[in-house]
Amino acid sequence: MSDLTVRRLPWEFSNVDFVWNKDDPAFAITMNKVSFFAVGFEKYICQAMNDAEKLIKDSSILQECKDFRSQESIHSMAHRKHCKALIEQHPGLQAALDVSIKLYDDLYAAHDLKYHLAYVGGLESIFTPSFRLMLDNREPLFSGGDARVASLFLWHFCEEIEHRSSGVMVYDHVYGEYWYRVSRFKEFMKHVGVVIEAITDVFREVFPEIAPEHFTNYSSYKMPRIGKMRSAWGIMTAQLPWHNPVNQALPEYFGEWVTRYERGEDMTRTYGVGANAGRMHDVALAA
Ligand SMILES: [Fe+2]
Ligand SMILES: [Fe+2]
Repeated sequence: MSDLTVRRLPWEFSNVDFVWNKDDPAFAITMNKVSFFAVGFEKYICQAMNDAEKLIKDSSILQECKDFRSQESIHSMAHRKHCKALIEQHPGLQAALDVSIKLYDDLYAAHDLKYHLAYVGGLESIFTPSFRLMLDNREPLFSGGDARVASLFLWHFCEEIEHRSSGVMVYDHVYGEYWYRVSRFKEFMKHVGVVIEAITDVFREVFPEIAPEHFTNYSSYKMPRIGKMRSAWGIMTAQLPWHNPVNQALPEYFGEWVTRYERGEDMTRTYGVGANAGRMHDVALAA
């Protein structure tokens, strides 16, 4: 039985700034790269899950696969909205969206389903330690930024943590060859790097006035060492044969986010500058 919740939130990003966090332009630009990347990557996940569904014999895994695909499809559409709002103001950014989608379409055409499920399972298994670090440090990273974009990422990171074991579960059920998946992990990460670099190249071309270091730095905020070490350890252990992402430690914010969503709060502006934390969703719609 899948325990994923499929949530559709009414995202809106009109006139959003490219540098949506003035306190930390490098972090704002890094997250923009993630938005453009997510559109291509999550479309790719949906294609792979759609093809995998035909091969799944177990009804509970089939349901997990379908809910996982629904969550990723909604993420992809939400990030596309964010990207489109930026493209409307800076038409040159369309090339960043096009290259993200093209590189993943090309990857889908070049390999078989086993490869794609291994790619998805491998990457998804490292998201919990990576995004936990971001959620634990949400105050320095997100509180100075536009609430719409900050809330988009907090929502996405929470749902990535929620479906942390879905990708590996589907791969294990359909193919289950541990060494095939783990021996290609470096190759998968290399491909992610190629997509991010292609998006960054477009950003640099469209914004020649922005200082070059803002395109390369992850953030001007230095993550606490202990948090970075815990994240690195989590990423490493995620590749071990006995590792099950479902057992990973979760950030306390995950529970808070879900509780607030379930009581009906407007989670599209829940954190950052201009947030209406605590405002109910129906009140937001009526405003
Ligand atoms: Fe996602
Ligand atoms: Fe995911």
